[in-house]
Amino acid sequence: MSLPSDLSAYYADHYDEVVYQGAGGAMQRQFHRSLERPWTTGYFANVLELGATNAEHLKHVRHNFKRYVMLDINDSQSARDAAGQASRPDRPVEFLVSDAQFLTNVADSSVDRLISMCLLHHLPGPDQALDRWRAVVKPGGVLSIFLPCDPGVLWRAGRLVTTFRAAKRLGMSKTDIRYLNARDHRNHVASIAAMINAVFRHDSVRVHRFPAQPLPSWNFNLYYTFQITKSVTEPGETVADSER
Ligand SMILES: C[S@@+](CC[C@H](N)C(=O)[O-])C[C@H]1O[C@@H](n2cnc3c(N)ncnc32)[C@H](O)[C@@H]1O
Repeated sequence: MSLPSDLSAYYADHYDEVVYQGAGGAMQRQFHRSLERPWTTGYFANVLELGATNAEHLKHVRHNFKRYVMLDINDSQSARDAAGQASRPDRPVEFLVSDAQFLTNVADSSVDRLISMCLLHHLPGPDQALDRWRAVVKPGGVLSIFLPCDPGVLWRAGRLVTTFRAAKRLGMSKTDIRYLNARDHRNHVASIAAMINAVFRHDSVRVHRFPAQPLPSWNFNLYYTFQITKSVTEPGETVADSER
């Protein structure tokens, strides 16, 4: 396999084969379940999932909803098929091609739950994206963000024996695998975490770390999840102001 010059071919043709096989695949499914653990019951009317790739996360969502939109910058027939299968007349699931950094086709304060699974490492402007994500979520709405602890020691060690090994089996050279990862995971987990804490400083932010919950170290954890509830008021505003 030669390295595609644009990553859309990699995501369409090889992503699931590289990431969702064997022990790496089992671990990846645990990542999805972990992000959904606080929301196994209940209801969010409008759900927006960003960087949905081939609909890997959708099957782990347990709560009810009125409308679920999967969005990705690359089109995916698998995601469109999964959306069709999960749709019901009263509860549509859709796939939308768009840029998660700008969300130009999403109205402000229109989303009840926003999901971002392994996306922020990829974006050229994660802080602007986070500002935009906060704007599209309704006051009192939720953002669920999953961050792999790349480039932590534990993450890099795990990657060597899972995804990197699978990519090698597909015929990718070590140089190509490292180049692909460098283009894909351009942001450091510590920088993204600091941006999340800054953008959501007036909101309620719950962080879960795995496997070392008491240890706020990206070297000794595999991932962080953030469950953020957007404040119903903006700084300096009272509840009465926000209802005018
Ligand atoms: C590592 S994958 C996401 C993982 C996938 N959600 C999963 O759970 O396995 C990153 C995804 O983000 C998408 N992506 C990258 N930049 C994007 C952007 N600016 N807007 C929307 N999607 C983007 C890629 O096309 C890819 O599908």
